[in-house]
Amino acid sequence: MSKLWGGRFTKPTNQLVEEYTSSIGFDQKLALQDIKGSLAHVEMLAHCDIISNEEKNQIIRGLHTIQGKIENDDVEYSVADEDIHMNIEKLLIEEIGPVGGKLHTGRSRNDQVATDMHLYLREKTEAIIELVEKVQTALLGQAESNVETILPGYTHLQRAQPISFAHHVLAYFWMFERDKDRLQDSLKRINWSPLGAAALAGTPYPIDRQMSADLLGFEKVYPNSLDAVSDRDFILEFLSIASIMITHISRLSEELILWSSEEFNFVELDDEFCTGSSIMPQKKNPDVPELLRGKTGRIYGNLMGLLTLLKGLPLAYNKDMQEDKEGMFDTVDTLEGALALLAPMLDSMEVKAGEMKKAVKEDYSNATDIADYLAVKGMPFRQAHEVIGKIVLYAIQEGRYLLDLSLEEYQQFSELFEADIYDKLAPEHVVAARNSEGGTGFEQVHVQIKTAKEHLYE
Ligand code: ARG
Repeated sequence: MSKLWGGRFTKPTNQLVEEYTSSIGFDQKLALQDIKGSLAHVEMLAHCDIISNEEKNQIIRGLHTIQGKIENDDVEYSVADEDIHMNIEKLLIEEIGPVGGKLHTGRSRNDQVATDMHLYLREKTEAIIELVEKVQTALLGQAESNVETILPGYTHLQRAQPISFAHHVLAYFWMFERDKDRLQDSLKRINWSPLGAAALAGTPYPIDRQMSADLLGFEKVYPNSLDAVSDRDFILEFLSIASIMITHISRLSEELILWSSEEFNFVELDDEFCTGSSIMPQKKNPDVPELLRGKTGRIYGNLMGLLTLLKGLPLAYNKDMQEDKEGMFDTVDTLEGALALLAPMLDSMEVKAGEMKKAVKEDYSNATDIADYLAVKGMPFRQAHEVIGKIVLYAIQEGRYLLDLSLEEYQQFSELFEADIYDKLAPEHVVAARNSEGGTGFEQVHVQIKTAKEHLYE
């Protein structure tokens, strides 16, 4: 009987059960975190005189050897040893003999797996924060080169008012800033140490949980051993943040897809980030943003999966919880992949300022400004709105735009119109006029860029 827990059993495990219950196929991703946790645990055991220094040194040497093998891809895991924790313990005993069996004193796989995942998610959260910053840098770069690039701003996907392109991309900068904030905040809770909670109830050994927590860089020890081994909130929180973030990525992707269509023709994605059609030679497809948009579903799915997994579980550990990992790994990989692509794609994107300008000239998005013009001259805004509605209808029926109407035509609608109306209607003026805090006015956009830089670089 070679199982680490084989003592109580009289028959070997059914082969199908062994395969079905094993998690080594995916939790081997936690190998290095598992070793890190064990190193801290064994230091603590020796410090508390639960094992001798000699034993500690042997175990540490053994763990280092195994770590080296893992890093060189030189280990063979076995399904029979179920998961990464027992695989490593098995390897350790093979490496240093029975003394390796002392490693598992005063802990259980339940606090061990929770510790591994806290460590894993901390590393990944920090890495993702850096990737988000690269996307923000790319957005900021496009904003800085396009403060004076004007395009139609939309509501209901109808042209509404002209805006600065910088303003548009900076909207995404702030979404990612909030995502980053959420990630940073979540680190507070990721940094709780479950180690030493043991199976569920703590341990009779005189362990020092604060010491192992300190060694692992955790800020706090879970005050309740049951909670420590059954809490997966930190993963739920990560998946929630990831879901919000991929929503932002998906919305941005949707805009890139629209903008790079011939109908909009506002941007051109670099050839490097597009693919062709096997049948239609003229095509250049925005596959990358389409796929980013498409990846959204699996991250939402991972969040829903874990919420559902946990909702009916009694305390403390249940084997169901082994299902918490793949969705987390998949979300990390999906998000890292998305962010790593997004930054260079945004960087290399060509912004077609001329086409955007043309679109602004061929619309009625300056209509609000004529209303404001009359309002400034004393007409109540509601009444001015009515007048301009009539002017817009007249222009549409004539097949002309607002800047094309003559002063005489304007004056037929209101005597308040004077020659200065044409300056007021020029897109540059329309944009510049929106100089209220956080508005698209050029001056405000410059202020916003400065604030964005402070957030990113300070
Ligand atoms: N492979 C298990 C998991 O990922 C580790 C914890 C197992 N604990 C237990 N009591 N069976 O959840």
